[in-house]
Amino acid sequence: MTLDAQRFVFITGKGGVGKTTVAAAMATALAARGKRVLVAMCGAHERLSSMLERPAIGHEVVPLGENLWGTLIDASRAMQEYGELVIKVRAIARLVFENRYTHGFFRAAPGLHDWAMLGKAWWHTTEVLGGRPRYDVVLFDAPSTGHGLDMLRVPKVILEVVPPGILRRDAERAWELFHDPAQSGVVVVSLPEDMPVTESIELVGALRGELGLPLQRLVVNAVLPALFDERERIALTSDAALFERARRGRDLSPAETALAAGVRRAAREQIQARNIERLRSAIGGETTLLPFLFGTAGTAAGIRELSRHF
Ligand SMILES: Nc1ncnc2c1ncn2[C@@H]1O[C@H](COP(=O)(O)OP(=O)(O)OP(=O)(O)O)[C@@H](O)[C@H]1O
Ligand SMILES: [Mg+2]
Repeated sequence: MTLDAQRFVFITGKGGVGKTTVAAAMATALAARGKRVLVAMCGAHERLSSMLERPAIGHEVVPLGENLWGTLIDASRAMQEYGELVIKVRAIARLVFENRYTHGFFRAAPGLHDWAMLGKAWWHTTEVLGGRPRYDVVLFDAPSTGHGLDMLRVPKVILEVVPPGILRRDAERAWELFHDPAQSGVVVVSLPEDMPVTESIELVGALRGELGLPLQRLVVNAVLPALFDERERIALTSDAALFERARRGRDLSPAETALAAGVRRAAREQIQARNIERLRSAIGGETTLLPFLFGTAGTAAGIRELSRHF
Protein backbone atom coordinates (compact mmCIF):
# COMPACT_ATOMS: atom_id res chain seq x y z
CA MET A 1 0.00 0.00 0.00
CA THR A 2 1.54 3.25 -0.99
CA LEU A 3 2.32 5.51 1.91
CA ASP A 4 1.90 8.64 -0.19
CA ALA A 5 -1.87 8.25 -0.59
CA GLN A 6 -2.51 7.74 3.12
CA ARG A 7 -4.47 10.32 5.08
CA PHE A 8 -4.23 8.82 8.56
CA VAL A 9 -1.55 6.47 9.84
CA PHE A 10 -1.68 4.92 13.32
CA ILE A 11 1.82 3.99 14.50
CA THR A 12 2.07 1.49 17.33
CA GLY A 13 4.27 -1.30 18.70
CA LYS A 14 5.87 -2.40 21.95
CA GLY A 15 7.25 0.32 24.24
CA GLY A 16 10.66 1.60 23.21
CA VAL A 17 10.87 -0.19 19.83
CA GLY A 18 11.15 3.06 17.87
CA LYS A 19 7.59 4.30 17.20
CA THR A 20 8.54 7.97 17.50
CA THR A 21 11.69 7.39 15.44
CA VAL A 22 9.57 5.77 12.72
CA ALA A 23 7.01 8.60 12.86
CA ALA A 24 9.85 11.11 12.45
CA ALA A 25 11.43 9.20 9.56
CA MET A 26 8.14 8.68 7.71
CA ALA A 27 7.16 12.30 8.23
CA THR A 28 10.53 13.47 6.90
CA ALA A 29 10.21 11.24 3.82
CA LEU A 30 6.66 12.32 3.03
CA ALA A 31 7.36 16.01 3.61
CA ALA A 32 10.38 15.80 1.28
CA ARG A 33 8.06 14.41 -1.42
CA GLY A 34 5.82 17.46 -1.03
CA LYS A 35 3.14 16.04 1.29
CA ARG A 36 1.94 18.28 4.09
CA VAL A 37 2.43 16.14 7.15
CA LEU A 38 1.20 16.54 10.72
CA VAL A 39 2.71 14.30 13.39
CA ALA A 40 0.28 14.04 16.29
CA MET A 41 1.58 12.53 19.50
CA CYS A 42 -0.17 11.65 22.70
CA GLY A 43 1.01 11.96 26.24
CA ALA A 44 2.44 14.64 28.43
CA HIS A 45 5.91 14.66 26.86
CA GLU A 46 7.35 14.19 23.42
CA ARG A 47 10.76 13.26 22.02
CA LEU A 48 10.09 14.10 18.38
CA SER A 49 11.37 17.67 18.65
CA SER A 50 14.74 16.54 20.02
CA MET A 51 15.03 13.90 17.26
CA LEU A 52 14.39 16.61 14.66
CA GLU A 53 16.55 19.06 16.61
CA ARG A 54 13.71 21.57 16.93
CA PRO A 55 12.27 23.44 19.94
CA ALA A 56 9.88 21.49 22.19
CA ILE A 57 6.41 20.83 20.79
CA GLY A 58 3.39 21.87 22.86
CA HIS A 59 -0.34 21.43 22.49
CA GLU A 60 -0.61 23.84 19.60
CA VAL A 61 0.32 22.76 16.09
CA VAL A 62 3.85 24.02 15.39
CA PRO A 63 5.88 23.98 12.16
CA LEU A 64 8.85 21.59 12.24
CA GLY A 65 10.23 22.18 8.77
CA GLU A 66 9.01 22.50 5.20
CA ASN A 67 5.65 20.69 4.87
CA LEU A 68 6.01 19.35 8.37
CA TRP A 69 4.09 20.13 11.57
CA GLY A 70 3.79 18.56 14.99
CA THR A 71 1.43 18.65 17.94
CA LEU A 72 1.09 17.01 21.31
CA ILE A 73 -2.37 15.79 22.23
CA ASP A 74 -3.14 15.75 25.92
CA ALA A 75 -6.08 13.60 27.01
CA SER A 76 -7.67 15.98 29.51
CA ARG A 77 -7.36 18.99 27.22
CA ALA A 78 -8.80 17.02 24.34
CA MET A 79 -11.63 15.79 26.59
CA GLN A 80 -12.39 19.33 27.59
CA GLU A 81 -12.38 20.51 23.98
CA TYR A 82 -14.65 17.66 23.01
CA GLY A 83 -16.96 18.34 25.92
CA GLU A 84 -17.19 22.00 24.96
CA LEU A 85 -17.82 21.12 21.35
CA VAL A 86 -20.61 18.74 22.33
CA ILE A 87 -22.11 21.28 24.71
CA LYS A 88 -21.86 24.08 22.16
CA VAL A 89 -23.54 22.03 19.49
CA ARG A 90 -26.22 21.02 21.95
CA ALA A 91 -26.79 24.59 22.99
CA ILE A 92 -27.21 25.60 19.38
CA ALA A 93 -29.04 22.65 17.96
CA ARG A 94 -30.73 21.40 21.16
CA LEU A 95 -30.92 17.92 19.86
CA VAL A 96 -27.66 16.08 19.97
CA PHE A 97 -27.35 14.69 23.45
CA GLU A 98 -29.54 14.13 26.40
CA ASN A 99 -27.80 16.02 29.19
CA ARG A 100 -27.78 13.42 31.95
CA TYR A 101 -26.58 10.76 29.57
CA THR A 102 -23.70 12.82 28.19
CA HIS A 103 -22.56 13.77 31.63
CA GLY A 104 -22.57 10.26 32.98
CA PHE A 105 -21.01 8.87 29.86
CA PHE A 106 -18.15 11.34 29.80
CA ARG A 107 -17.33 10.63 33.42
CA ALA A 108 -17.87 6.90 33.37
CA ALA A 109 -16.23 5.71 30.20
CA PRO A 110 -12.43 5.60 30.44
CA GLY A 111 -12.37 4.87 26.72
CA LEU A 112 -13.50 8.41 26.10
CA HIS A 113 -10.10 9.67 27.16
CA ASP A 114 -8.64 7.54 24.41
CA TRP A 115 -11.26 8.65 21.94
CA ALA A 116 -10.60 12.28 22.82
CA MET A 117 -6.96 11.79 21.74
CA LEU A 118 -7.59 9.58 18.73
CA GLY A 119 -10.61 11.66 17.70
CA LYS A 120 -8.58 14.85 17.97
CA ALA A 121 -5.81 13.36 15.81
CA TRP A 122 -8.42 12.19 13.27
CA TRP A 123 -10.11 15.60 13.36
CA HIS A 124 -6.92 17.14 11.97
CA THR A 125 -7.54 15.13 8.76
CA THR A 126 -10.82 17.02 8.35
CA GLU A 127 -9.28 20.49 8.65
CA VAL A 128 -9.50 22.53 5.48
CA LEU A 129 -7.37 25.49 4.46
CA GLY A 130 -7.79 27.41 1.20
CA GLY A 131 -10.25 24.86 -0.19
CA ARG A 132 -8.12 21.76 0.36
CA PRO A 133 -7.17 19.62 3.32
CA ARG A 134 -4.82 21.44 5.61
CA TYR A 135 -2.67 18.30 5.94
CA ASP A 136 -2.31 15.56 3.35
CA VAL A 137 -1.61 13.06 6.08
CA VAL A 138 -1.73 12.80 9.86
CA LEU A 139 0.82 10.43 11.38
CA PHE A 140 -0.38 9.45 14.83
CA ASP A 141 2.41 8.39 17.19
CA ALA A 142 0.08 6.20 19.25
CA PRO A 143 0.53 4.53 22.63
CA SER A 144 2.29 1.16 22.76
CA THR A 145 0.63 -2.14 21.89
CA GLY A 146 -1.96 -2.89 24.60
CA HIS A 147 -3.08 0.69 25.09
CA GLY A 148 -2.88 1.31 21.34
CA LEU A 149 -5.27 -1.56 20.70
CA ASP A 150 -7.65 -0.36 23.42
CA MET A 151 -7.62 3.04 21.77
CA LEU A 152 -8.55 1.56 18.41
CA ARG A 153 -11.42 -0.37 20.01
CA VAL A 154 -13.10 2.80 21.26
CA PRO A 155 -14.65 4.11 18.03
CA LYS A 156 -16.04 0.62 17.42
CA VAL A 157 -17.61 0.59 20.88
CA ILE A 158 -19.03 4.07 20.33
CA LEU A 159 -20.72 2.85 17.15
CA GLU A 160 -22.19 -0.05 19.10
CA VAL A 161 -23.47 1.74 22.20
CA VAL A 162 -23.77 5.49 21.67
CA PRO A 163 -27.01 6.92 20.28
CA PRO A 164 -26.83 9.18 17.21
CA GLY A 165 -25.20 12.53 17.90
CA ILE A 166 -21.99 14.39 17.33
CA LEU A 167 -19.86 11.87 19.19
CA ARG A 168 -21.20 8.98 17.19
CA ARG A 169 -21.08 10.89 13.92
CA ASP A 170 -17.36 11.63 14.35
CA ALA A 171 -16.61 8.08 15.45
CA GLU A 172 -18.42 6.78 12.36
CA ARG A 173 -16.49 9.02 10.03
CA ALA A 174 -13.19 8.15 11.69
CA TRP A 175 -13.95 4.42 11.72
CA GLU A 176 -14.83 4.53 8.04
CA LEU A 177 -11.53 6.24 7.22
CA PHE A 178 -9.52 3.84 9.39
CA HIS A 179 -11.01 0.91 7.49
CA ASP A 180 -10.12 2.16 4.04
CA PRO A 181 -6.70 0.69 3.16
CA ALA A 182 -6.31 3.22 0.35
CA GLN A 183 -6.40 6.05 2.90
CA SER A 184 -5.45 4.68 6.26
CA GLY A 185 -3.68 1.88 8.07
CA VAL A 186 -1.78 0.82 11.13
CA VAL A 187 2.02 0.76 11.08
CA VAL A 188 3.33 -1.88 13.47
CA VAL A 189 6.89 -1.22 14.62
CA SER A 190 8.93 -4.13 15.91
CA LEU A 191 12.49 -5.13 16.71
CA PRO A 192 14.14 -8.32 15.41
CA GLU A 193 14.00 -9.89 18.89
CA ASP A 194 11.84 -12.63 20.43
CA MET A 195 9.53 -10.63 22.70
CA PRO A 196 8.71 -7.71 20.38
CA VAL A 197 8.10 -10.14 17.53
CA THR A 198 5.68 -12.26 19.56
CA GLU A 199 3.87 -9.11 20.61
CA SER A 200 3.72 -7.80 17.03
CA ILE A 201 2.26 -11.05 15.74
CA GLU A 202 -0.49 -10.91 18.39
CA LEU A 203 -1.11 -7.26 17.66
CA VAL A 204 -1.55 -7.85 13.94
CA GLY A 205 -3.83 -10.80 14.77
CA ALA A 206 -6.09 -8.48 16.77
CA LEU A 207 -6.02 -5.79 14.07
CA ARG A 208 -6.97 -8.19 11.33
CA GLY A 209 -9.35 -10.31 13.39
CA GLU A 210 -11.32 -8.46 16.01
CA LEU A 211 -10.92 -4.94 14.58
CA GLY A 212 -10.72 -5.62 10.87
CA LEU A 213 -8.28 -2.75 10.35
CA PRO A 214 -5.69 -2.67 7.54
CA LEU A 215 -1.99 -3.05 8.29
CA GLN A 216 -0.22 -0.25 6.46
CA ARG A 217 3.13 -1.97 6.87
CA LEU A 218 5.35 -3.71 9.32
CA VAL A 219 8.55 -1.90 10.26
CA VAL A 220 11.41 -3.92 11.72
CA ASN A 221 13.64 -1.38 13.38
CA ALA A 222 17.30 -1.48 14.38
CA VAL A 223 18.36 -4.35 12.12
CA LEU A 224 22.09 -5.05 12.37
CA PRO A 225 24.00 -5.31 9.11
CA ALA A 226 24.85 -8.97 8.54
CA LEU A 227 28.55 -9.73 8.92
CA PHE A 228 27.94 -13.45 8.44
CA ASP A 229 25.86 -15.49 6.04
CA GLU A 230 23.64 -18.27 7.29
CA ARG A 231 26.24 -21.01 6.86
CA GLU A 232 28.80 -19.01 8.83
CA ARG A 233 26.29 -18.16 11.55
CA ILE A 234 25.44 -21.79 12.02
CA ALA A 235 29.09 -22.82 12.04
CA LEU A 236 29.97 -20.17 14.62
CA THR A 237 27.05 -20.80 16.95
CA SER A 238 26.73 -24.58 16.82
CA ASP A 239 30.08 -25.40 18.45
CA ALA A 240 28.90 -25.67 22.06
CA ALA A 241 32.37 -25.48 23.66
CA LEU A 242 33.33 -22.43 21.60
CA PHE A 243 30.00 -20.80 22.36
CA GLU A 244 30.42 -21.36 26.09
CA ARG A 245 33.95 -19.92 26.14
CA ALA A 246 32.81 -16.91 24.11
CA ARG A 247 29.95 -16.41 26.57
CA ARG A 248 32.21 -16.53 29.61
CA GLY A 249 34.88 -14.46 27.87
CA ARG A 250 37.59 -14.94 30.51
CA ASP A 251 41.28 -15.87 30.00
CA LEU A 252 41.13 -15.54 26.26
CA SER A 253 44.05 -14.85 23.95
CA PRO A 254 43.61 -11.90 21.52
CA ALA A 255 42.73 -14.31 18.73
CA GLU A 256 40.19 -16.06 20.94
CA THR A 257 38.74 -12.68 21.97
CA ALA A 258 38.17 -11.83 18.31
CA LEU A 259 36.60 -15.21 17.75
CA ALA A 260 34.40 -14.78 20.83
CA ALA A 261 33.17 -11.41 19.51
CA GLY A 262 32.38 -13.10 16.20
CA VAL A 263 30.47 -15.88 17.94
CA ARG A 264 28.38 -13.40 19.95
CA ARG A 265 27.67 -11.37 16.86
CA ALA A 266 26.75 -14.46 14.86
CA ALA A 267 24.36 -15.52 17.64
CA ARG A 268 22.71 -12.12 17.56
CA GLU A 269 22.42 -12.17 13.79
CA GLN A 270 20.94 -15.66 14.01
CA ILE A 271 18.24 -14.47 16.44
CA GLN A 272 17.59 -11.48 14.21
CA ALA A 273 17.27 -13.57 11.04
CA ARG A 274 14.97 -16.05 12.78
CA ASN A 275 12.72 -13.28 14.08
CA ILE A 276 12.49 -11.44 10.76
CA GLU A 277 11.49 -14.75 9.19
CA ARG A 278 8.88 -15.34 11.95
CA LEU A 279 7.38 -11.91 11.27
CA ARG A 280 7.37 -12.39 7.51
CA SER A 281 5.72 -15.79 7.63
CA ALA A 282 3.15 -14.90 10.34
CA ILE A 283 2.22 -11.45 9.04
CA GLY A 284 3.28 -11.05 5.41
CA GLY A 285 2.39 -7.79 3.70
CA GLU A 286 4.80 -4.96 3.14
CA THR A 287 7.79 -5.02 5.48
CA THR A 288 10.33 -2.21 5.87
CA LEU A 289 13.64 -3.04 7.53
CA LEU A 290 15.41 -0.10 9.16
CA PRO A 291 19.12 -0.34 9.94
CA PHE A 292 20.55 -0.12 13.43
CA LEU A 293 21.97 3.39 13.80
CA PHE A 294 25.45 3.49 15.28
CA GLY A 295 25.95 6.86 16.93
CA THR A 296 23.24 8.83 15.08
CA ALA A 297 20.14 7.39 16.82
CA GLY A 298 17.92 10.17 18.08
CA THR A 299 19.54 12.84 15.87
CA ALA A 300 18.27 14.65 12.79
CA ALA A 301 21.01 12.99 10.71
CA GLY A 302 19.85 9.56 11.89
CA ILE A 303 16.21 10.37 11.11
CA ARG A 304 17.22 11.55 7.61
CA GLU A 305 19.07 8.30 7.05
CA LEU A 306 16.03 6.24 8.12
CA SER A 307 13.69 8.41 6.05
CA ARG A 308 15.28 7.05 2.87
CA HIS A 309 13.64 3.71 3.61
CA PHE A 310 10.14 5.17 3.22
N1 LIG B 1 17.30 2.23 14.22
C1 LIG B 1 17.76 2.52 15.43
N2 LIG B 1 19.05 2.26 15.76
C2 LIG B 1 19.52 2.56 17.00
N3 LIG B 1 18.78 3.12 17.97
C3 LIG B 1 17.49 3.39 17.71
C4 LIG B 1 16.91 3.11 16.44
N4 LIG B 1 15.61 3.50 16.48
C5 LIG B 1 15.39 3.99 17.70
N5 LIG B 1 16.50 3.96 18.45
C6 LIG B 1 16.66 4.44 19.82
O1 LIG B 1 15.82 3.66 20.66
C7 LIG B 1 15.21 4.47 21.66
C8 LIG B 1 13.68 4.33 21.58
O2 LIG B 1 13.24 4.92 20.35
P1 LIG B 1 11.84 5.70 20.27
O3 LIG B 1 11.78 6.77 21.30
O4 LIG B 1 11.63 6.07 18.86
O5 LIG B 1 10.88 4.49 20.68
P2 LIG B 1 9.32 4.54 21.06
O6 LIG B 1 8.75 3.25 20.60
O7 LIG B 1 8.72 5.79 20.52
O8 LIG B 1 9.39 4.59 22.63
P3 LIG B 1 8.17 4.88 23.65
O9 LIG B 1 7.39 3.59 23.72
O10 LIG B 1 8.89 5.21 24.93
O11 LIG B 1 7.38 6.02 23.06
C9 LIG B 1 15.69 5.88 21.42
O12 LIG B 1 16.77 6.14 22.26
C10 LIG B 1 16.12 5.87 19.96
O13 LIG B 1 17.10 6.83 19.67
MG1 LIG C 1 7.63 7.31 21.49
